[in-house]
This record gives sequence, C-alpha cells and structure tokens, in this order.
Amino acid sequence: MTAINSVVDLGRDGEIAIVTVNSPPVNALSADVRDGLAGAFAAIAGDSSVKAVVLACAGRTFIAGADISEFGKPPRGASLPAVQDAIEGAPVPVIAAIHGTALGGGLEVALTAHYRVSDARAKFGLPEVKLGLLPGAGGTQRLPRVVGAKQALAMVTSGTPIGAKAALAAGLIEEIVEGDLTAGAVAFARKVVAEGRPLKRIRDDASKLGGDAASLAPMFAEFRAANARAFKGFDAPEANIKCIEAAVALPFDEGLKVERSEFMKLMTGLQSAAQRHVFFAERQAAKIDGLPADTQPLPIASVGIIGAGTMGGGIAMNFLSVGIPVTIVETKQEALDRGIAVIRRNYENSAKKGRFSMEEVEARMARLTPSLSLDDLHSVDLVIEAVFENMAIKKEIFGKLDRIAKPGAILASNTSYLNVDEIASATARPESVLGMHFFSPANVMRLLEVVNGARTSKQALATAMAVGKQIGKIGVVSGVCHGFIGNRMLGKRQEQANKLILEGARPADVDRVLVEFGFPMGPFQMSDLAGLDIGWSADTSKGETVRDRLCEAGLRGQKNGKGFYDYDADRNRTPSPVAEQIILDYAAEKGINRREIDDQEILERCLYPMVNEGAKILDEGMAQRASDIDIVWINGYGWPVYRGGPMFWAEHDAGRETIAAALERMGMDVSPRLKAGF
Ligand code: 3HC
Repeated sequence: MTAINSVVDLGRDGEIAIVTVNSPPVNALSADVRDGLAGAFAAIAGDSSVKAVVLACAGRTFIAGADISEFGKPPRGASLPAVQDAIEGAPVPVIAAIHGTALGGGLEVALTAHYRVSDARAKFGLPEVKLGLLPGAGGTQRLPRVVGAKQALAMVTSGTPIGAKAALAAGLIEEIVEGDLTAGAVAFARKVVAEGRPLKRIRDDASKLGGDAASLAPMFAEFRAANARAFKGFDAPEANIKCIEAAVALPFDEGLKVERSEFMKLMTGLQSAAQRHVFFAERQAAKIDGLPADTQPLPIASVGIIGAGTMGGGIAMNFLSVGIPVTIVETKQEALDRGIAVIRRNYENSAKKGRFSMEEVEARMARLTPSLSLDDLHSVDLVIEAVFENMAIKKEIFGKLDRIAKPGAILASNTSYLNVDEIASATARPESVLGMHFFSPANVMRLLEVVNGARTSKQALATAMAVGKQIGKIGVVSGVCHGFIGNRMLGKRQEQANKLILEGARPADVDRVLVEFGFPMGPFQMSDLAGLDIGWSADTSKGETVRDRLCEAGLRGQKNGKGFYDYDADRNRTPSPVAEQIILDYAAEKGINRREIDDQEILERCLYPMVNEGAKILDEGMAQRASDIDIVWINGYGWPVYRGGPMFWAEHDAGRETIAAALERMGMDVSPRLKAGF
C-alpha cells in the first residue's frame, strides 16, 4: 500500500487498485482528501497493469460530503470537479464501495464512479438543501439520470437519505455486499472486468430521466404546489427544483452550468451562511464548557416522571420510545388514567399513520408503569418532576424525593421559569438536582434546556445532556435565571407585543409581521393556542391587564373558539371584535395615545429587545455561547432556520450597532456585549 498523502492510500489486490480515503471523523472532502484522490487517480491512469479501481473509505463512513468548514474560505488544492473528472474519465472501471453515509459531495463523487456497491446499512442522500445549498458537484444532473427526475426532486429538496435497499431498487447501486465490503467490491470489480462491462458514465445516459421537459412539466408544477408551504421563506428548495428541471431540459454540460450558477448564488447568500452556522451551532451546543475530559455520564436505565399531564405524558413518551422504562406518578387515579390514555392514543395515531406497528405500540406501553405513590421511584436513575409551576409544591416534592430516591439519582425539574437552586435547597443533595426544561409538545419539540444549578455536579449536568441526546433532543445548557434562555427572551418580545397593541397596532398586524419574518405563528396566535387563562384565576383576577379582561369576558383562546381571534369549527381565525374593543377601552382608560404603527416598528420592537436580552444572558454567563441561544430559538420557538437564530441575525443581518442605537432611542438599557460583540 502506498500513501498518496496523509489521508489517501493506494493499495492493490492483484490487478485491482484500491483507493482508500482515511480522514476522520467523516471523510469530508477537504483539500487534502481532494489532493489525495487526484494523486491516486493520476497514478492509476499511468499504470496499465490496473484493470479496475475500488474507491472505498476507512472509518465510520464513506465520504459524508464537502468539508463544510472550508466554505467561504479561499480555495485550496485540487478542485472537486477535477477529481470527479479524473474518476469518471479513468481508463478502467471505477467501483465505489459505500458504507455509512454517502452524502452530498460524497454521493456526487460516487456518482462519477462507473459502478456502485454498498453494505446493507449504507445511506445515500443529497442533504445540501438543509445547509441552504444545492448539490454543487453535478448531483442535480447525475442523480436524475440514475433514479429519474421525480425521485431526484424529492431527494434534493428534502435532503432525506435513502437506504441501501431503496438505492438498489432505484438503480443507484448495483449490488448490496454481504460480508467484507472491500472484498465484495473487489470481487464485483473482477466480474466487471471479466464480463468486459462498459465504463458506465452517468453523464452520457439520459434514458432514465423519466421524460422530457414538456412531459414532466406537470410533475414539476404539482411538486411546487404540494410543497409551497414547506418551502416558504427558503431560497434553496426552488433553486434545487430549477436544477432538476435543467437536467431534464438541457444537455448534461449545459445543466451543469445552471447548477453552478444556482449553487454560487446560494453559497454567497445569507440563508446558507445561516444554515451552515446552525449545523455547527447544533453540534457545539452539546459541548459543556469546563467539563473535565474524564467525566462519565451516569447510565440512565429507568426514569420516573411526576405528573401525567400534557408535559409529563409527552416527556414520558420520549423515553418509552427509545426503550427506557418509565414509572409515571400522579396523585389521583383519574388523572393517571387520563394521562396514560393520552400516551396510548398518541402512539396509536402514529401507528395508524404507518410510523410503526401496533406491536410496537404495545411494546412501548409495556414499558410504562403507572403509580399513585412517589415511593415507587426509589430505584429509578432519573426523576423528572412535571407538575404545575408552584414553588411550594415543587419544594415539597423534592423534599420527599430526597428521602425516596436512591443515592446518585438525578433529580430534575421541568420548570419553565422557577429558580432551580431554590428547588434544590429542599434536598440534601443539590449536586444531583438540575432543570430539564422540555418544550410542548414534549414528545415532538427537539429543544431541551438543561438548567445548571449553582451546586449541580458536572457529572449530573453531563448525564442530563447525554440522556437528552439519547432521546433525540438538542440539549442546551442554561444558567439559573427567570425563564432561562428561551422564555426570558420571549418575555421581552411579549412585553413589546402587549405595548404595541395598546399603542395602535392590531394583534393581527403583530402576528402577521412575525409570520412574514418566518415564525410559524405570532405572539397572539401563540397566546390563543396556549390558552389565555393559563395562570389566570377568576377568583383573584382584578382586571389589571388586557389578558385579565379578556379572560373575565370569557375569552379563553382556541379552546373555546374565542381569544384575540374568533375561531370557526375548522380553526380558521378572524380578528375578534370583542378583543379589539377590550384593547381599545383599556388603552383609553390608561390614557394611551393610539397612532399608526408601521411593520418595521413592529419588527424592531419585537425582535431588538430579544437580542438585547440574549446579550445580557451572555453578559451574565447564563448561556455558554451566542450560538446556543440561536439553537434555543430555532428549536424551541420556531425562529426561521434560514435566519440563523437571533444572535446570528443580529450579527450578520440586522447589525448589532443598528440594534443598539435603536434600543437607545427606545430608552432601553443596552447590554455592553451588544455593542462590543458577542
Ligand atoms: N464537513 C465538515 N465537518 C463535518 C461534516 C462536513 N461535511 N460533516 C460532519 N462534520 C463534523 C461535525 O461537525 C462533527 O465535528 P465535531 O466532532 O468537531 O463536532 C464531526 O464531523 C462528526 O459529526 P456528527 O457529530 O454529526 O456525527 P454523526 O455520526 O452524528 O453524523 C453525519 C455523521 C451523518 C455525516 C453528519 O455529520 C452529517 O449529516 N454531516 C453533514 C453531511 C452534509 O451535509 N454533507 C453535504 C455537505 S455540502 C456538500 O457536499 C456540497 C457539495 O454538493 C459540493
């Protein structure tokens, strides 16, 4: 075996050359990998004893894509198209041997090979759209020439990979290899040589496209219409569609030019920069600053959940779904039965949609133990308390848990606002206490704020983050402050939204501006959805706020069809004249001068104070880094991913200085970090 460079080797098995990429962790196409591949294929082209080539990767995966960390930097080394030309133009058959994930540029390299084989677990995809991009190395032109325009369209716009079986059925690979992949690929290469099979260059064969521009036009039109909602706001899906259309309508090289030009537009745009930021931010969020390298998270083999309401039930589902048994505790049999029934119904609905079998529903339910006694939590590894937001009750529960739970068990509260240190003070083991703040619906939303108390041990923190990952959440570490990262910032937005509707904006205007910005819904739609009466009581209401008065007038939000909006049976909404009058009366009573408020002011007043609060959260060390705040807002509150999160948006779009100046004009206390940089 010859080392071409530090990451690419060239070996031999008789007359078959074996090119191996070995660039951990994911064999991304860095300059070194490209140089190595160029060198290897140059050597092969000059060696007449080579009859075929196997291109394989060491480690956990085939090439997982271009090296995203190189994007936006000056180009170095061999270009990817040059490497692909060398593979596609090789004088002998090249067989890609694929395991792990052949993604993006990785799959595009494989598509320049003449044949592809894989192991049974390999996955194939063009996920560039998730980075605000399109496959820029011929993927949009070659993939439809293999799997047809229709399937290629679905793959490039969703970014979702397909498995080996589907790849075989679609003609993307020739064979699934059982046993050793490289050996199987070498055997396949010998077969190709022995049978004198041709060098199959995908670029030369348009027969699988599935039609021409005219015959496929209705398919493209239908696809656009069917996905209009999902693609709203994003630039990349439409650019991907255009490229597949070009593959159908144009000769290969012309199609490549369209791909190149669309790729460059996306690559230099803000949306892709934002989405690439999010890719790395998500991985960064998992890292705990100052965690000693030898910290081992505790194994979590069983979980106790206190409260079988909406949150408790949703939280339980996360664990049941990944095979971890849960004991769920309620105070009354009726509430317990209701909670269990909701969990079962949710699972059954998923099964009806074909996500898994009815046996799987039963398997998950079998992991659930209902209980009316906290004593039943004596042996679990992790307890998550999910009762309503009342400090006295939480302290009472944690006091009891302290006596019941086994030593070392992690005791977590799902509080959304309350002081975790005070909750911990009810125990003699504050090192085991922390917050695990899930977002509703807790079985769906990916965000998990892990609240690090003043005395929480590093090991407990690491355990909560690790178990979060195990149940498919994106954990973000937060310090103890009112509302933690997400709700603390949300509070600032709500404060302004509430003022805006008194000063002259209509709730529907505030909602519309934020929806146009990219949020799935605005603050008043959100209030109606959550229920206006959360935390409100008729006995204590003094009509002090607009919300008090809405509730006093019987407006409860979506649940009774009346809130800031009126809802019909299909949940279509129209602004409520009753709510409007209540707002007008309230403003008049408080002597607020109403005026025209334009969309720009609505946007600035809703978002700038949020960014400022984010900066204060950093000032106080409540978040580890600005990008963590972005992850919270994208995954917990629907901040549009193509805008990168509030801190990215402030830095790269709205401008920190512009925001600081506007906040000063609004008379607000501006965070030093907003001026100095995050
Ligand atoms: N470039 C640079 N670094 C990458 C990378 C890439 N394409 N893919 C993964 N990494 C890094 C991650 O940042 C992470 O680094 P860290 O350990 O320092 O945090 C490390 O590799 C491991 O990644 P994961 O933690 O995500 O590992 P998993 O095993 O969970 O997942 C994976 C592996 C499925 C390959 C996943 O990393 C992934 O989806 N990667 C991105 C794939 C992708 O989007 N490819 C297309 C790139 S764009 C492109 O190819 C353009 C072309 O068309 C020209």
